Amino acid sequence: MEFVRSIWENDKDYMALVEDLLEDENLLKLDEITHHHYTTRLIHSIYVSYVSYKIAKRLNLNCRAVARAGILHDFFHEGREEIAALKQGSHNCVHPKIAVKNAEILTELSELEKDIILKHMFLTTVGVGVPRYKESMVVTCVDKYCAISEISTPVRMRLKETVSRWGLKLRVVNA
Ligand SMILES: [Fe+2]
Ligand SMILES: [Fe+2]
Repeated sequence: MEFVRSIWENDKDYMALVEDLLEDENLLKLDEITHHHYTTRLIHSIYVSYVSYKIAKRLNLNCRAVARAGILHDFFHEGREEIAALKQGSHNCVHPKIAVKNAEILTELSELEKDIILKHMFLTTVGVGVPRYKESMVVTCVDKYCAISEISTPVRMRLKETVSRWGLKLRVVNA
C-alpha cells in the first residue's frame, strides 16, 4: 500500500487528534528533510502515527497518545553528523531525547507519550530502555515496519520497472 496524503487527511477522527500538531511550523520543517532515502521525516512520522493509531484502535489502547506521540517520535532537525558532534551517544540513543525536548515545547506530554517517544528505538541500541506500555510497543514495532517499507520502496520500484521492461522486450521478440 502506498501511503498517500488522502488516507490520513480524510480520516476525521484521526485528524481531530493531531491537527493542532500539524499546524506547527517547526514540525512542518521535517518535510524538508529526507528520511530513509525515499520519504521525508514528516511523512514518515505521519505514517508511523497513522498505522499505530489504527492498531491502537483495534486493540482498545490509548489512540490519542499513540497518534500524537507517533507524529512527534522523530521530531528532530539534526543530521547524523550534527548528532555525532554532540558526543552524547549514538544517533539511535540521542534523537528520541531531542524529539521529547522539541515536543515539550509544542505540547504537553503525558508519561505515556514520553515513553512512546523515548523508547521508539527499542532493540536498535542498548541505551534506550524497554517500553513500559503496550502503546509504546505498538509504535516501536510500527516504526520498524515503516522504515523497512520506506527503505525498500526504491528497490521495489526498480524491480517493477525491470520486470515490465523484460515483459515489453519479450512481447517485441514474440511479435
Ligand atoms: Fe527514530
Ligand atoms: Fe521513526
